Parts: sequence; C-alpha cells; structure tokens
Amino acid sequence: MGFELPDELIFMKNKKAEQKKSDASMAGKVCVITGATSGVGLEALKKLAEGKADIVMVCRNLEKAKLIKEDIQKKWPVNIDLFEADFSILSDVRRAAGEILAKYKQIHVLINSAGLHSTTKVMTREGFEMVFCVNHLASFLFTRLLMDRLKESAPARIIQVNSEGHRFNGLDINDLNWNKRFYTGLRGYGASKTAQLLTVWEVADELKGSGVTINALHPGDVRTNIGSNNGWLYRCFLHNVTWHSLKEPSISGEAIYYLAADPDMLDVSGKFFHLTIEEKPAKHALDRELGKKVYDLSMRMTGL
Ligand SMILES: NC(=O)c1ccc[n+]([C@@H]2O[C@H](COP(=O)([O-])OP(=O)(O)OC[C@H]3O[C@@H](n4cnc5c(N)ncnc54)[C@H](OP(=O)(O)O)[C@@H]3O)[C@@H](O)[C@H]2O)c1
Repeated sequence: MGFELPDELIFMKNKKAEQKKSDASMAGKVCVITGATSGVGLEALKKLAEGKADIVMVCRNLEKAKLIKEDIQKKWPVNIDLFEADFSILSDVRRAAGEILAKYKQIHVLINSAGLHSTTKVMTREGFEMVFCVNHLASFLFTRLLMDRLKESAPARIIQVNSEGHRFNGLDINDLNWNKRFYTGLRGYGASKTAQLLTVWEVADELKGSGVTINALHPGDVRTNIGSNNGWLYRCFLHNVTWHSLKEPSISGEAIYYLAADPDMLDVSGKFFHLTIEEKPAKHALDRELGKKVYDLSMRMTGL
C-alpha cells in the first residue's frame, strides 16, 4: 500500500499534479474580473481575451488598466470595458457595481482576483483591517451586488480567487480588526481567506437551483506582484529565497479559465480547487456554524 498524505497536506500532491485545461469558447459571455492589472488576474484576463469573452475590468488604477487593455487588444480584438474601484473602500465597490449594473443587462462570469498580503496591520479609512477588507469584505459585497444580474443571466459562474493561505487561519470573529491580538501577515491573510471560503459555502447553498455556481480556488504558487506593498526585507526574502520555487502565473490563468468556461464545470458549485483539482480545505474553513456567523457579520459590515 502506498503512503497516503493526510488531508491537511494533500495540497502538496495537488500542486504537482497535471492540471485540466479548457478550450471552450466564451464568445457572447460577459465576464467581470477584478485584480486583472497584475499577476493571477492578468493571466486570467489574457485567457478570457483568447476565449473571445466580453470583458469588464474593475481596477484601482485606470491608467495602468488602459495600457493593459491596449496591449491585450493588439493580440485579441475583444471588448474590454474599464471601471474604477479601490477595493479597500466599500463605497467604491458599491459605486462600481452600480455603474456596471446600469450598463450590462447580462453578466455570465464574475472573477474576484483583487487581493493583497500585508506584513503590517493597516486600517482602511472606513475602519476595517485592509487585508480582510480587500480580500474578503469587498469581494463579498461586489458578488452580492451583482448576484441578481448573474441569476438573470444564468447559467452563470462566480470564482473567488482564494488561497492555500487559508490554512494559516487567524480568523477570530470577535477581533476582526486585530485589536486584541498581535497581527502577523500570515494570520491576517489566513483570516481573510478563511472568511471568504466560509461564505462561499453559504452562498453556494443559497444559489442552489438558480443556475449560478460559486467556487473558490488556490491559483498556484506563482510569480506575481503580491507582497510588493511590503517592506524591503520581505521583498528581499520573496525575490531571493521564495522566487525560484514559484511557477509562471500562466498556470493560474489556465485554471481560472477552466473553472469559468469548461462545460464540465457547469453544475459544480460550493467547492475549493487547487488550480483545477478539487481539494478539501482546512477543517476550520469547513465549520458551517462559524460560516453562518461570518456570513451575517459580512452582511452587516458591508451594509447589506
Ligand atoms: N501569487 C500567488 O502565488 C497566490 C497564491 C495564492 C493566492 N493568490 C491570490 O491571487 C489573487 C491575486 O494576487 P496576485 O498574486 O496576482 O497579486 P498581484 O500581482 O499583486 O495582483 C493583485 C491584483 O489585485 C489588485 N488590487 C490589490 N489591492 C487592490 C485594491 N485595494 N483595490 C483594487 N484592486 C486591488 C492589484 O491592482 P494593482 O495592479 O493596481 O496593484 C492587482 O490587479 C489574490 O487574491 C491572492 O491572494 C495568489
């Protein structure tokens, strides 16, 4: 009998496994994507363009997005529309969602890739810990605001770009702003990704029978700009120690495209994928009782 890895370590096997790919067309599908000005999201954007999707990019830096749009359109002549929103400001998320809803009568795919990792605790001007806000609250709010349009456009798919980093946990619903505990980057990141996963299961249940699916994925351990907001020591470690073990982010784009486009994913919902392989998340991220509390808290914190 071969050696079986425990559930907690199965990601080590999955990251070496052969991944699935899709060449399904996305022509005629409206795809909304956040975080597409860099890294994982940018690679997903390229795949969406190759797949002929109508693309709606939501970004915090319009100038950067315009250059990317021009570049992409030189290669693939697709529609790319740009909307501005800083995901650390929930009022920005609301405004952008409103603008998109006013313009697009159909939305078939929503990909939430905007995210960050911060080694220090930073508070947003609306009073939330930054990483929790951008990685979880903003994507939660944005998803909810677009939900009815996704239902009207069914079949539709929601993809939350999550992380194996959820395994770091760090979620304490009585201390989401880290006033009682010492903040570390890994635990802050883990808290945000755990909260997001817990709400994915809740939303998936809510969406049953609607023709809209929601799944989360770890997009691989890939070379992107994540962490570039941190201090020189962190960046030095990232580029000199970790960098060589990371992979090209094109694998993230392929995986997101598979989840977004492939016919095999049509009815799959409420799952966590390591790239394209379904994986059991950490135990704390499967606690449905906690999930219901996180869901209610997220509704309240985002003013829903
Ligand atoms: N890289 C990995 O190995 C890895 C592993 C697991 C999970 N992930 C997840 O993948 C997602 C994308 O990360 P990445 O690695 O691609 O990092 P990245 O290269 O830094 O890209 C992050 C994207 O999010 C956007 N963003 C960050 N803060 C934002 C804000 N306040 N408002 C709006 N947009 C914001 C960035 O915009 P700008 O271009 O303006 O900076 C960029 O487009 C994240 O959710 C991350 O947790 C990545």
